[in-house]
Amino acid sequence: MQQNLVPVLEQAGVVPVLVIDNVSEALPLAEALVEGGLNVLEVTLRTEAALAAVEEIAKHLPDAHVGTGTVLNGDDVRRSVDAGATFMVSPGVTESLLDAVDGVTIPLLPGASNPSEVMRLLERGYRYQKFFPAEAAGGIPMLKSIGGPLAQVKFCPTGGISPKNARDYLSLSNVICVGGSWMAAPNLVAEKNWAEITRLAKEASLLKG
Ligand code: 3PG
Repeated sequence: MQQNLVPVLEQAGVVPVLVIDNVSEALPLAEALVEGGLNVLEVTLRTEAALAAVEEIAKHLPDAHVGTGTVLNGDDVRRSVDAGATFMVSPGVTESLLDAVDGVTIPLLPGASNPSEVMRLLERGYRYQKFFPAEAAGGIPMLKSIGGPLAQVKFCPTGGISPKNARDYLSLSNVICVGGSWMAAPNLVAEKNWAEITRLAKEASLLKG
């Protein structure tokens, strides 16, 4: 199931992590990011508007891949599928979350932050994982260390990624893409500064060499 996600993440390079407070912001924000070259979008399920935002983007922007983030349990999984998400991301995992995902038609990028968590996910068949919270959990040195014994696992580091360190993360052999919120910072969204968001997205889309 994760195989469907691999080309999408590889092509993405940078995945914007979005917190959408008003559904009216969803389309202009997604359009601004897609115009800048970022078309894989993670909408976190942290706001009341999140699921409606996913529906809007899925319906109106067929060129975008919209997924849900902050997926914590079976309810979030069902709501993600119903809203039209094409993938899901979780900050960590529980057995019940993994059970809820079994048999679901859209892939999960599950979160891990240390070798034991990585191994547990690998046992359940997950070769692609979110490394979260990337900077706080040891950053680039940690990923390099994990890449020794667990080289078959590829990561999407997220949490503390910025234009300053993204390129270094992307150059690691066990990194498939990075996630981050910097190109859609809350102040830019609140100001409806879509032009600046497009500019930052363009810059981000060039980070993967
Ligand atoms: C999150 O969960 O908010 C993401 O990991 C984004 O983290 P960032 O704001 O540090 O990019």
